[in-house]
Order: sequence, then structure tokens, then C-alpha cells
Amino acid sequence: MTNAPSYAAAYGDWMRDPATYWAGEAAGITWTKPWEKIFDPDLGAFGQWFAGGELNTCYNCLDRHVEAGRGEQAALIYDSPMTGTIRTFSYAELLDRTERLAGALAALGVTKGDRVVIYMPMVPEAAIAMLATARLGAVHSVVFGGFAAAELSTRIADAKPKVIISASCGLEPGRVVKYKPLLDAAIAMSPHQPSACLILQRPQALADLKPNRDYDFDTAVAEAEPHGCVSVLATDPLYVLYTSGTTGKPKGVVRDNGGHAAVLWNSMKMIYGLEAGDVWWTASDVGWVVGHSYIVYAPLMRGCTSVMYEGKPVGTPDAGAFWRVIAQHKVKVLFTAPTAMRAIKQQDPEGTLSRDYDLSSLEALYLAGERCDPPTGVWAHELLGKPVVDHWWQTETGWPITAGFRQFGLFPFKPGSGGRPCPGYDLHALDDEGNVLPSGTTGNLSLRLPLPPGCGPTLWQDDENYRRSYLSDFPGWYRTGDAGVVDTDGDVWVMGRTDDIINVAGHRLSTGSMEEVLASHKDVAECAVIGAKDELKGQTPMGFVVLKAGVSRPEADIARELVALVRERIGPVAAFKDARVVARLPKTRSGKILRASIRKIADGENAPVPPTIEDPTSLDELRVLFGG
Ligand code: COA
Ligand code: AMP
Repeated sequence: MTNAPSYAAAYGDWMRDPATYWAGEAAGITWTKPWEKIFDPDLGAFGQWFAGGELNTCYNCLDRHVEAGRGEQAALIYDSPMTGTIRTFSYAELLDRTERLAGALAALGVTKGDRVVIYMPMVPEAAIAMLATARLGAVHSVVFGGFAAAELSTRIADAKPKVIISASCGLEPGRVVKYKPLLDAAIAMSPHQPSACLILQRPQALADLKPNRDYDFDTAVAEAEPHGCVSVLATDPLYVLYTSGTTGKPKGVVRDNGGHAAVLWNSMKMIYGLEAGDVWWTASDVGWVVGHSYIVYAPLMRGCTSVMYEGKPVGTPDAGAFWRVIAQHKVKVLFTAPTAMRAIKQQDPEGTLSRDYDLSSLEALYLAGERCDPPTGVWAHELLGKPVVDHWWQTETGWPITAGFRQFGLFPFKPGSGGRPCPGYDLHALDDEGNVLPSGTTGNLSLRLPLPPGCGPTLWQDDENYRRSYLSDFPGWYRTGDAGVVDTDGDVWVMGRTDDIINVAGHRLSTGSMEEVLASHKDVAECAVIGAKDELKGQTPMGFVVLKAGVSRPEADIARELVALVRERIGPVAAFKDARVVARLPKTRSGKILRASIRKIADGENAPVPPTIEDPTSLDELRVLFGG
């Protein structure tokens, strides 16, 4: 574990001697067998950490705290304004539920290496399901509840789970989202069939259970024998988390057990400045990597109390909801996405509602998921009078690439910057040929291999796609897909993606997958989807379609059908609400659609006519559409 007194010393320690540095980080974890090689370059796509070592992630999150006498301490606080419930689980209680669910899964035949898909709303059982799967040495794959049946089905087909754990419903403001019909439809579409489903019945909408396949979650847990921890290799997979890639097919990012445990345990102290017993709240969803790492694994690994919130920043019941949760549970550090702060700011610009609550417990606000726009960062900083830290990472890395470090003292506040690289990351901006650019020059943000522990070592059963997607453009480097700049102080500014991924309300989405859906409509000849600027969500998808010759149906009808189709195929999370019919799309002479020009026009920016454009007048219709 790092005891370095400053950021420079810690970063320098790692640079000089990574093996000793990582051995120190791993000392906070309970291993059942020590590693043989701290790094084995011959494993996986670029090597693997702690090769030969064994541990159990669930043991490190639960059992060891109970064995150390902290069983009565709160592990998880479930706070749900959606149901009017607050429930606290001590470490001992959380362990009891987890070992029973592990027993129930084992009774259904789940063993080490088997996959378990988890499709659940923000209920404690979702965290328990993750931990129980980890306890068995099995591999979970959590699917975000806002995805539609087809997306769930793709993930089931790829992960091939033995068991699926789901709930009868999720709760969104003003509507109950019935999960079970979505699950049934997803299974029906999938070539792979699970042997069993465990369904948590929520009173807001009970689900019909299919005989001999579906079992009631609570009954199964109540009847199960507690199951112990199964030791796994540090390099064995803990989970697969699917994320948007540059095609319609999501990428199954694999997380291993050993490196993940070591870096998450350390990050709670080094980055967020927390110790065992501190209350921590990540306002995200277990379906995203932020939820995996910082609602479930890292805080529990460290022995903190993690708040799990089923609600929104606004409307549940008002824009004071976050301040209420902080005050009520004495949260020390809050981690959320900038979009949540923008939502609060939009409804309560003066922060009047914050004055109703005692926020003295709060020591810092951490933001990630999208770049925090400076006005929002400054607003939160002035309102709370506490440090606001933007930090940058992605599903693939599993923990921050850049951050501010409370253990070492935070860097001066630079709104718009994502902080400095965490020890373990040798980060540079590269030009398109892979040359390192001088500081202050924008380029492809890339990480020199090997990636540190915790970062996804591969894609699920697809090393080749991992190499192609991340390692092939710049040999010896991992390409993050983000463009940005490292300034002369070493602070990193992440400016946006270099591929077709957009970020909507902190949710990572692929415009390519939306285009695939639009293109499947019978009247559409060609299409483009771009991420246009949005005051609240950062970006919002906007579709442009050219109709097939001879189609004379009302354009408004077609646009409505396209919006419905994206919701049906991808899900409400795509937030696709704007489809426009145009006579033609601007293209290069080689036929490539000029999406960047479309986006600039939609954002009201100056869009110079690219020299490669086939027909310069093709931009005029768009300019008229957006009043330019
Ligand atoms: N299950 C089912 N539907 C869901 C869902 C879930 N788990 N999560 C979101 N949805 C639905 C929403 O109800 C909404 O549906 P609608 O089109 O019928 O209104 C749609 O998906 C889009 O959701 P979202 O983009 O989240 O917009 P919103 O208007 O509901 O809320 C915010 C906007 C800013 C309040 C919300 O996005 C938020 O709290 N974001 C926090 C950021 C976050 O958690 N980021 C994760 C990465 S850190
Ligand atoms: P996800 O994999 O869903 O976590 O999304 C990762 C992507 O979100 C990154 O590649 C960035 O494009 C963006 N992102 C996340 N955090 C930040 C941040 N703090 N600043 C800028 N972009 C961010």
C-alpha cells in the first residue's frame, strides 16, 4: 500500500519499480495463495497481473470484515425514495444473504467459471447477486435495466449464463417498468437458454413465473444452505460488463479478480480519502462500471458503508433529494455524474433546497462519466464549499485513469480538467501516427502498455477483438478512444471521443448501433446519427434519414416510428427522441457521411465546407433545418 507523502512521490515510486509498487497495493487484500509472478507478459492480450495468486473477491468484501469483528457495522444503506424505503444491512447481514444466495445458485448448478446474468433495478439484491456470484467463483454480467429486450438478448447470447437473476419490475418516476416480459422476450430471442431464472418479486408488479425455469428469489434464498467462498486465480474473470463499442455489437469487457481487488481497495484511500467505517455514496446504477466498482466492490473491499440509491437527482421528490441523502446518512464523499448536478442546478439554480439540510459531513464531490463542463463544476463548488473533483475513466479500465488524490492533497481546482494520471498509467496524447505529442497539444489519449492491474485484460472470449479495438492502432499503446491534452502542469483535459460513441446523461451509447436500427426501417435508404449538444444530458442523439425513392408517407409518421423503433430495440436509455427526414446527407466523394459537419450545424457551430465533400450544397438543407 502506498505511503508516499505526495502525488509526485507515489507516481515516481510506481514509475521506478512497478513490481514493488503493485506488491504494496496488493497487501491490503487477503490472498488464499500468493502470486507466483507479479506480472506475466505471456498471458492474455498484453500480460496479466498477480499470475498464479488466488483469492475470493466476495471474501475480501464481506467475510473478512465480519471475522475482524466489524460484523455490526453498516455495509449497505438502501435508500429508495421510489418506494419510501430505507434499509440498512450490516456486514453480518449482507454476508448472511450473500452466502444463502450463493447456496441457492449452487443448488441450481452454478459452479466456478459459469456465467450469471443479472438484470435488476437498484435494489440491494442486485449487489447481493453480484457478491454471491463472485463467492462461487462464477462470472456475473450485469445488464442495465434501461436496455430493451433485444440488447439483453445479445448479452445473454454472448455470455451464455447458466442462471439469470432478475426482478419483476423497476421503478422510474411515473411508471413501473415490468422487467419480466422483457426478460422473457430476451430469452425467446436468444440462441442460448439459461437453465433457471431467479425472480425477485417486487410488490409494485408481480411477475408470472414459468414452471421449471423461474424460481422465486426470496424462497430460493430462504431455503438455501449458506455457501462458502471458492478460491479463484487472480487472473480468473470476476465479471463481464458489456459496453458500447464502435459497432452495434457491444463489447464484453472482462474484469479479473486479483488486480481489480488490489486497485479498488487502494483507490478508496488514495483517490477518495476514505477508510473503513466511512460513509460513501455513488449515485449511479449497478448496471454501469461506476456502479460495479464504486457502489459494490471498492467500498465493501475497504470496509466502508455504501449508500445504494433508487431514485433520481430531481423529481424524487425534488432537487433537494441528494442533499437529503447526504445529511440523513452522513455521507463523507459523493460520487456522481455531472448530468446529475446539471439536473439539480436547472431546477434549483440558487441551491435553495440545500439549505434545508446539514451537509457538514460532506468532504468532497467526485464527478465522472462525462466531462464536467466548467460552469457546472464551479456551481457545485460554490454551492457546497467543498472540493469538486472531475476524474476520467471508462468501462475498460474499471478505475480512474486520471483523478485528484485526497490522500496526497488535492491539486488546485481547474474546472474542465480531469486531474492527473493515477500511478500505474503512463498517459500521453499521440498524433495519428502514434508519436508522443508535446504537452499542450491535443491528440489521441493513449496509455503505454502494460495497463495497470484492474484494467480489463481482454474482451469476453475475444482476445482478437480486444487487440484490434484497443492495441492495433498504436503498437505498444492502449488507445482510450478519447481525444485530449496533457498540459504543462500534467493536468489532463479530455475533450471528447474520437469514435462514434456519445455520452448521454453519463450513459455511453453508440451512434452506430442506433444507425443500424434506423437503417432497418423499411422506408429508410440511408441514415446518420450524431450526438448533439444538450443542456441537461451533455449530448443527445439526433437521427437524420433519407427515404427510399417513391416513399410518400407523411414524414412525421416515419419519424415517430423511428423513435419508437430505437426505444424498442435499444431501450429508453438511448433517449432517442429526434428523427428528421432530409433529402440527402452530406458525404465525401468516396461516400463517407460527414457526421462531424452535421453535428456542428446541429450545435449551431461554424461548419466549414470540407474539401473532400461531394456536393457542398448538401449542407444547405441542414443549415436551414437548424436556422443557420
Ligand atoms: N430502467 C428502465 N428505464 C430507465 C432506467 C432503468 N434503470 N434508467 C433510465 N431509464 C429510462 C428513463 O425513465 C427515461 O425514460 P423516458 O424516455 O420514458 O423518460 C430514459 O430511460 C432516459 O433516461 P435518462 O437519460 O437517465 O433521463 P431522465 O430524464 O430519466 O433523467 C437525469 C435525467 C440526469 C436525472 C438522469 O440521467 C440521472 O440521474 N443521471 C445520473 C447519471 C448517472 O447515473 N450516470 C451513470 C454513469 S456515472
Ligand atoms: P463508460 O465506459 O460508460 O464509463 O464511458 C467512458 C467514456 O466516458 C470515456 O471514454 C469518456 O469518453 C467519457 N468520460 C468518462 N468520464 C469522463 C470525464 N471525467 N471527463 C471526460 N470524459 C469522461
